[in-house]
Amino acid sequence: MTEKITINTIKAMKGLDPIVMVTAYDYPSALYADRAGVHITLVGDSLAQVVLGYDTTVPITMEEMLHHTRAAGRGCQRSLLVADMPFGSYQKGPADAFENACRFLKETPAHSVKLEGGVTMAETINYLTMRSIPVMGHVGLMPQSVHQMGGYRVQGRGKEGLRALLDDARAVQDAGAYSIVLEGVPMEAARQVTRELAIPTIGIGAGPHCDGQVLVLNDLLGLYDQFVPKFVKRYAEMGKEMERAIREFAKDVTERTFPGKEHSYE
Ligand code: KIV
Repeated sequence: MTEKITINTIKAMKGLDPIVMVTAYDYPSALYADRAGVHITLVGDSLAQVVLGYDTTVPITMEEMLHHTRAAGRGCQRSLLVADMPFGSYQKGPADAFENACRFLKETPAHSVKLEGGVTMAETINYLTMRSIPVMGHVGLMPQSVHQMGGYRVQGRGKEGLRALLDDARAVQDAGAYSIVLEGVPMEAARQVTRELAIPTIGIGAGPHCDGQVLVLNDLLGLYDQFVPKFVKRYAEMGKEMERAIREFAKDVTERTFPGKEHSYE
């Protein structure tokens, strides 16, 4: 598949081909993700923690998200570029959410936004999708609600938890979202939601039964070690490799073995 991936491509993959989504926050990470063949590049608000060093995703601003979405967009050729709406940019009401979502579509190369929330956000999702803004939903563990939840807690457990999760997922679908992230839910709950919905589910900490999977790039590359959740698989140890390379450079400079003749002009 070489043509540009759209929300129609993603919708058509439901139940057929697993959807691969990864986060990226700048030009090189988006470029490599795209070259690796991911279907969706998400400029997640996890940017706040893994790149900008905030404790949670709550403090990140519209301006920071726009800046990084523009940078990632320059590297993103084929995959669908999705921008995460930061906390405070959509909760006030549908009109406010529309204004901020428009900024992503007008001022960056993103073709879609993502926002957290189920039943309570359905009216806003409907308002956006009825006005030509493609929305990816996000239910289950919603990191922007960390203070409300009193920490990061698995959602959808027990009969009541599962019912609430199904209600949220259905509300997001019925409001017009073209796909939905399921985060931090038991794999059986994710299986039920995936079976019930007509739109693709993309899981993170939601087990193997979703229509697709997403990981935070810095987690999978080993570039963030403040907290490593159970669901993360590390595919590289780039943080350690980065430190090794910088140490070697420092040693060469200290011992005056760099720069050599081959790095110098006559
Ligand atoms: O911000 C983010 O990276 C996300 C993914 C974990 C889905 O929302």
